[in-house]
Amino acid sequence: MTATDAPSAPALTGRRPVLVTGGAGFIGCNVAERLARSGHDVLIYDALARAGVERNLAWLKEKHPTKISVVIGDIRDEASVAAAAGEAAAVFHFAAQVAVTTSLVDPKDDFTVNVAGTIALLEALRRRDNPAPLLFASTNKVYGDLADIPLEATNDAYLPRDGELRVHGINEERPLDFHTPYGCSKGAADQYVLDYARSFGVPTVVMRMSCIYGPRQMGTEDQGWVAHFLIRALEGSPITIYGDGRQVRDILNVSDAVDAYLAAWRRIAVVQGRAFNLGGGPENAVSLRQLLRHVEDLIGRPLQLVFDEWRAGDQRYYVTDTRRVRQALALPRPVTWRKGVAELATWLAQERGLPEITGGRRPAEALP
Ligand SMILES: NC(=O)c1ccc[n+]([C@@H]2O[C@H](COP(=O)([O-])OP(=O)(O)OC[C@H]3O[C@@H](n4cnc5c(N)ncnc54)[C@H](O)[C@@H]3O)[C@@H](O)[C@H]2O)c1
Repeated sequence: MTATDAPSAPALTGRRPVLVTGGAGFIGCNVAERLARSGHDVLIYDALARAGVERNLAWLKEKHPTKISVVIGDIRDEASVAAAAGEAAAVFHFAAQVAVTTSLVDPKDDFTVNVAGTIALLEALRRRDNPAPLLFASTNKVYGDLADIPLEATNDAYLPRDGELRVHGINEERPLDFHTPYGCSKGAADQYVLDYARSFGVPTVVMRMSCIYGPRQMGTEDQGWVAHFLIRALEGSPITIYGDGRQVRDILNVSDAVDAYLAAWRRIAVVQGRAFNLGGGPENAVSLRQLLRHVEDLIGRPLQLVFDEWRAGDQRYYVTDTRRVRQALALPRPVTWRKGVAELATWLAQERGLPEITGGRRPAEALP
C-alpha cells in the first residue's frame, strides 16, 4: 500500500476529541496512534484490565504527548463513560472482555463488560442532540462454530467442500448463532449497536472481525494466538495446540484493520446501521500448522508442540468474505500474512529483548 492510497482519518473536527475505549489495548492503541498522527485529539478510556497494555499507553504518550489524554476507568461505570463520550467527535469501541476461555470461567463478568458496558456507551450517545458515530469491534464468533459447513481435511488444513465458500469465504448473510458466553455477549452488543442506529438514529457500524494480528499485541494462550505463538517460539517455550492444528483463519494485519475503521468513520453517512465481516480474506487464510511452519522458517529452529483437546466453540474453518467491506470502504489490498507475521516477529523480539530474527533455515524436523 502506498501513502497516497492509504485511507486517512476524516477531516479534523475542531478540538473535540475522538474517544477510543480499550485504547490501551492492541487494536485500540493502533487506532489511537493513527488518529493522533492525523492531528486528532484522542481520549483513551481503558481499565488496564489486560496485562501489559500499560506499555501501549506509555508508547502512545511518548509518541504524541499533546494529542493523547487518558481516563483510567471501567466501561461499566455509566457516569464516567457518559462524561468521556459527552463531547466526543466519534467513538471507537474496543474495550471488552476479549477471551472465550475467560467467559466460560466468569460469564457474568463477561456479560456486564461486553453488554452492559456497550449499552452505557450507546445510552451516552443517544442522550446527545447530535449523536456522534460509534464504530464497534464485533467478532466472527457471532456466527457460531459453523459445524454445518462440510469440510475436508488435507494434511495441513480444513477446507470447505463447497466451491463458492472455498473461493470467497463467509459473508454477512450467514445466520447469527451465538456460541459460548463470549459469543453471546459480543453478539448481543453487536445487535444493540445496530439497533441503536435503527431505533434511535445513532450512526453506528459493526465490524465482525476475524483474527487481527500485529505490533503491540500482548498475545496470550487465551487471546491473540498469532502473537502468542511467536512469543513462545522466540522464548523457546512449548506451544500448546488445542485441536489438531488444521483449523483455518484468515488473519488481518492491524494496519489494515485501522484503515477499515477510519474509512468507516469517513463514510459513516453511507454505511451507518450496517455490519461488515472484516478479515484478511481467502488470500490470507492460513491454518495453525501452516503458520507454525512459517514461524519455524523465521526463527530457524523446530518448535516444541503439545497437542490438547479442542476448545469450546472453536471453528474448524473461518475465512472472511471481504468483498462487501472492501467495496463499501474502498479498502486497499491487505498486507500479505507471511510478510505481516515476519514483521510482528521482529517487533516482538525487539520489544522483549529477545534474539533478533535473522530469517532462519528450514529445520529437519517437520510438524506431525
Ligand atoms: N484481536 C482480535 O483478533 C479480535 C477479533 C475479533 C474481535 N475483537 C474485539 O476487538 C476489541 C479489541 O480487541 P484487542 O485484541 O485489541 O484486545 P485487548 O485486550 O488488547 O484490548 C481490550 C482493551 O479493553 C480493556 N478493557 C477490558 N475490560 C475493560 C473494562 N471493563 N473497562 C474498560 N476497559 C476494559 C483492556 O484493558 C484492553 O486494553 C475487543 O472488543 C475484541 O472483542 C478482537
